[in-house]
Amino acid sequence: MSLRLVSWFLLLFFLNVFKHEVPAAESVLSASKTLVWGPGLEANVVLPARFFYIQAVDSSGKNLTTSPGEKTFEVKIVSPVEQFTRIWIQVLDRKDGSFLVRYRMYATYTDLHIHILLKNKHAAKSPFILKGPVYHEGCHCPQPSGSVWEAHMHCPQSFPQIDRDLSLLTSVDPDRNAQEIPQRFGQRQSLCHYTIKDNKVYVKTFGEHVGFRIFMDAILLSLTRKVRLPDFEFFVNLGDWPLEKRKPTEKIHPIFSWCGSNNTRDIIMPTYDLTESVLETMGRVSLDMMSVQANTGPPWPEKNATAFWRGRDSRQERLELVKLSRAHPDFIDAAFTNFFFFKHDESLYGPLVKHVSFFDFFKYKYQINIDGTVAAYRLPYLLAGDSVVFKQDSGYYEHFYNELQPWEHYIPIKADLGDLLEKIQWARDHDEEAKKIALAGQQFARSNLMGDSIFCYYYQLFKAYAKLQVTEPKVRKGMELVEQPADDLFPCHCHRTMVKDEL
Ligand SMILES: *[C@@H]1O[C@H](CO)[C@@H](O)[C@H](O)[C@H]1NC(C)=O
Ligand SMILES: *[C@@H]1O[C@H](CO)[C@@H](O)[C@H](O)[C@H]1NC(C)=O
Ligand SMILES: *[C@@H]1O[C@H](CO)[C@@H](O)[C@H](O)[C@H]1NC(C)=O
Repeated sequence: MSLRLVSWFLLLFFLNVFKHEVPAAESVLSASKTLVWGPGLEANVVLPARFFYIQAVDSSGKNLTTSPGEKTFEVKIVSPVEQFTRIWIQVLDRKDGSFLVRYRMYATYTDLHIHILLKNKHAAKSPFILKGPVYHEGCHCPQPSGSVWEAHMHCPQSFPQIDRDLSLLTSVDPDRNAQEIPQRFGQRQSLCHYTIKDNKVYVKTFGEHVGFRIFMDAILLSLTRKVRLPDFEFFVNLGDWPLEKRKPTEKIHPIFSWCGSNNTRDIIMPTYDLTESVLETMGRVSLDMMSVQANTGPPWPEKNATAFWRGRDSRQERLELVKLSRAHPDFIDAAFTNFFFFKHDESLYGPLVKHVSFFDFFKYKYQINIDGTVAAYRLPYLLAGDSVVFKQDSGYYEHFYNELQPWEHYIPIKADLGDLLEKIQWARDHDEEAKKIALAGQQFARSNLMGDSIFCYYYQLFKAYAKLQVTEPKVRKGMELVEQPADDLFPCHCHRTMVKDEL
């Protein structure tokens, strides 16, 4: 027998010994086998809050599926040429063996070194070196080539919803729209007319309630700091309801809205709520797509198997839901935290209950998503938790709803809630399946609703829309320039040079 064969036998022997004698629970985390990935490890992915992931792996190469402890990994980010790096870091424990690390930079740095330590040992390929300049969110430094930016951002080839929305338009005539849209909608609706010209943002508002303009201004300014946008003109509907009710055979006016419906033909953008949560992540204390991932409540078996809902009385079905909850408290815990629309019915649907932190929703296995004025803008956050979502059938949708599959990402319920009790009973009887749906919904949110995806969506929407224009977009009479905020505190030097012959 050759020596090599002998050692093989010895190895097999020891492997078997270990297999039997080392209990799985005592598995040791491996620094070198730790997995680390994500856009926050790349200098060119500029986001308000950059992020990446850590997956804890044991010495046998198995992924952990429960938390090894919140403080397991230590993350340090330094710039070797700066004494002080103004970077706020958070390591969020997702309690499934993985961590979401996010950081917000308050200045631009030449190089960044990201150290990920497991018990003082470098994990995975740590330190990760980002060759700079590494720009912060406030730095005005647009990448001149849209396709280079898209490649840096790893944007998907396309978004089906953009294709669907724009397929209804054969062309876009900015001159005609500038005339007709304010005439048709400008009196009764609140609208913004934007022109992007030479990567600068100009706006004119119509109507009384234009406060929500700040969200649109903010995303446009943020995008134009990162990438050069094509010249284009468009109208944003600042109201809740989508506006364009004409049939595809009639002449449709392109109106950009935050919510779509089965009966309207507006062009859908990510909601102002989701957009703001991306822009303001770590800028303030709030619910966002990252903080929610670290606050998904107890593990599945310990969650309460009652369906949960809190909200305000913005739609008849919500009243029905609360009534149903009163009749079947063993199935549903639904209550209003606010009366606004149906105040006189308080005796029937009250009492009002105290506001519940969104994170506490996830003490419950079953989450009910039911329309408010339009689509309920909480769905992204509900999906990101690890409860299963019961989604009411609805004519209203956000930019990603059409990519969700019933029974795969959520449990469908009828618009009139007629089958809600039955569906809850189904989930109770099929716990494994319900859990699988919960995790598929969560995976969808993790892969499609983070900041990088939202920026890609806006960019690709604007790019595709701009191509449809048949007359030249112009800065119109009465438009004002929306200025980039001055960044006096941490001015940055933009190193980009203009690329010749772009396109
Ligand atoms: C371990 O986790 C990573 C990251 O989520 C995943 O890509 C990989 O497939 C997992 N490996 C196994 C063996 O499940
Ligand atoms: C589950 O939640 C319901 C409604 O909130 C509550 O009445 C019940 O006591 C909870 N069950 C457990 C086991 O905590
Ligand atoms: C809206 O359209 C979707 C997709 O065609 C459909 O599944 C849904 O049932 C419709 N809902 C309503 C309330 O019209």
